[in-house]
Amino acid sequence: MKVLVIGGGAREHALCRSLSLDPDVTALHCAPGNAGIAEVAELHQVDALDGAAVTALATRLGAELVVVGPEAPLVAGVADAVRDAGIPVFGPSGEAAQLEGSKAFAKDVMAAAGVPTARSYVCTNAEEVDAALAAFGAPYVVKDDGLAAGKGVVVTEDVEAARAHAAACDRVVIEEYLDGPEVSLFAVTDGENVRPLQPAQDFKRALDGDRGPNTGGMGAYSPLPWADPKLVDEVVESVLQPTVDEMRRRGTPFSGLLYAGLAITSRGVRVIEFNARFGDPETQVVLARLKTPLAGLLMAAATGNLADLEPLRWSDAAAVTVVVASHDYPGTPRTGDPIIGLDEVAAQDAPHAYVLHAGTRHEGDAVVSAGGRVLSVTATGTDLTEARDRAYRAVARIRLDGSQHRSDIAAKAAGA
Ligand code: AMP
Ligand code: GLY
Repeated sequence: MKVLVIGGGAREHALCRSLSLDPDVTALHCAPGNAGIAEVAELHQVDALDGAAVTALATRLGAELVVVGPEAPLVAGVADAVRDAGIPVFGPSGEAAQLEGSKAFAKDVMAAAGVPTARSYVCTNAEEVDAALAAFGAPYVVKDDGLAAGKGVVVTEDVEAARAHAAACDRVVIEEYLDGPEVSLFAVTDGENVRPLQPAQDFKRALDGDRGPNTGGMGAYSPLPWADPKLVDEVVESVLQPTVDEMRRRGTPFSGLLYAGLAITSRGVRVIEFNARFGDPETQVVLARLKTPLAGLLMAAATGNLADLEPLRWSDAAAVTVVVASHDYPGTPRTGDPIIGLDEVAAQDAPHAYVLHAGTRHEGDAVVSAGGRVLSVTATGTDLTEARDRAYRAVARIRLDGSQHRSDIAAKAAGA
């Protein structure tokens, strides 16, 4: 099978790494990719938001499966263009991707499907904002309605900060605060059948102890030793299957990866958000544990054949990933700094620890930073303690001027 992956972050590196290990994959292409992906796939330039350009590239390469990584091309309808050309594509239509593209739309689908989520108001002016803030009280949760790469959400005790964020957005969703730990649960779906993956936990805040601003995610781990073993089945029944059924009922079936961001509250599981694609960095740890060959799974979803697929197989290993981010992330990151030590990790820590690239590119022989999140240093072990130790040992070998990472990824779950 010839596969083309669209995107260029650590999630796409994780996808490409797993695809490159799948014996059914005969050729692997990625556009635009990054310096790390170049080691496992052939890179191509493309405007990832241009459906016609992606389709032309897929056709030229003879791709038999296109996997769209990020949300922006999905919301822009890139999967529709590829599918219209008769090429199987893993990723929802532009209309179905509105589950992520519009928080107001997601709330509407959840209400219709009876999916438990935070109570909320959609507000378009200051009066509505004030009324909603007063209705829920502190802590205030204010979300930009559109795509904001995980950075459009403000959770604050300060009503002025809540008002200011709302004023900076055209349309916001204001909702009740959900307490309790968060879980990311991904499901592969063909629009009808749902196959849950293993749950993971992400660390959204920039600094240790869950302080600092929200980011795209600073690290992740799986499995979740503290979670109820029935959690996955429960979420399939109360969240994932009803959502997939409701999308099909509306005439906009959702196929691809449905990501449920959940809060395990004192009153039960609640959906915080849906995403229409694999999560980053959770994918890095989930795929590290998936034993079923990835291409066959994604192809089954793309072609409506999930019901026929054998049960997914998982390794008992634990996995941890630590994001190395550039100076000032999630603010305006500094780029172009050389990354030293990648060879050392490959020589000393493989195969248990490895570096997935996010914002990197080649500059001559050097690999330099090219984005906010630069690397996703991933490791497996017999338990979270071992996986964590291995991941941090590898992180310690990497030198990137001004870089930052959290030192407490998976610490609590590992009992550290
Ligand atoms: P979202 O983009 O909706 O996933 O929000 C980003 C992050 O903000 C989430 O991962 C949570 O940590 C936090 N958050 C979002 N909604 C809520 C809520 N209703 N209550 C508490 N925290 C929230
Ligand atoms: N890790 C959060 C996300 O992918 O949206």
